[in-house]
Amino acid sequence: MFEASPFDTMPELETESLLLRRMEMRDAQDMYEYSRDPLVAKHVLWDAHTSVSDTKSYLRYMLRKYRAGEPSSWCIVEKSTGKVVGTIGYMWYQKDNSACEVGYSLARRCWNRGYMTQALNAVLDYTFRELGINRVEAQHETDNGASGAVMRKCGMTKEGTLRSRLYNKGRYVDVDLYSILRKEYMSRIGRKA
Ligand SMILES: CC(C)(COP(=O)(O)OP(=O)(O)OC[C@H]1O[C@@H](n2cnc3c(N)ncnc32)[C@H](O)[C@@H]1OP(=O)(O)O)[C@@H](O)C(=O)NCCC(=O)NCCS
Repeated sequence: MFEASPFDTMPELETESLLLRRMEMRDAQDMYEYSRDPLVAKHVLWDAHTSVSDTKSYLRYMLRKYRAGEPSSWCIVEKSTGKVVGTIGYMWYQKDNSACEVGYSLARRCWNRGYMTQALNAVLDYTFRELGINRVEAQHETDNGASGAVMRKCGMTKEGTLRSRLYNKGRYVDVDLYSILRKEYMSRIGRKA
């Protein structure tokens, strides 16, 4: 029998400053504006976009994932300007282990305003309370301190450092692995798991 995927829906999520929604082709220009920034791309596994057609290829890839009900991402809309300023979503999902990994990126002009902390909190809330997933992981290159700060502010625990875990943009990089469990999140928000 056909079983619905937990990622079929990807509903809109709202925070104080942000709206998280499915991406659309019309988002290409907004997303290109920050995806072309080498500093935004420095610690992620994609290369800075060199033309808007790179951004359109990424959007087509994400729309295919939505259609297939595969783990995918939301775009992050800044409510005050209506602009798409980032993405956040699922890198993978393991049904048998009820586990997934989240990843994110944000336009440089929006850094250090608490935006990604708001977005990650909203995604954790949805993942634990609506999808009922048991474990959420996130990882960041050790020299990307801001990302580790976001994870800690959202109640995630560092489990360790994976040495030379990734080969990214011409160098082997150490990666810090973080996680949060459903029972920890529920107790953090004062609910029974
Ligand atoms: C990492 C990133 C998502 C953070 O988003 P953000 O919206 O700026 O995060 P927030 O404002 O919610 O929180 C940032 C925190 O990092 C802290 N911070 C900033 N630079 C830091 C640094 N170099 N080292 C340690 N902490 C740092 C800030 O002080 C803030 O913590 P505070 O609220 O306790 O003061 C954003 O910088 C980004 O998109 N970078 C490029 C893409 C990327 O690296 N993605 C993550 C891959 S793992």
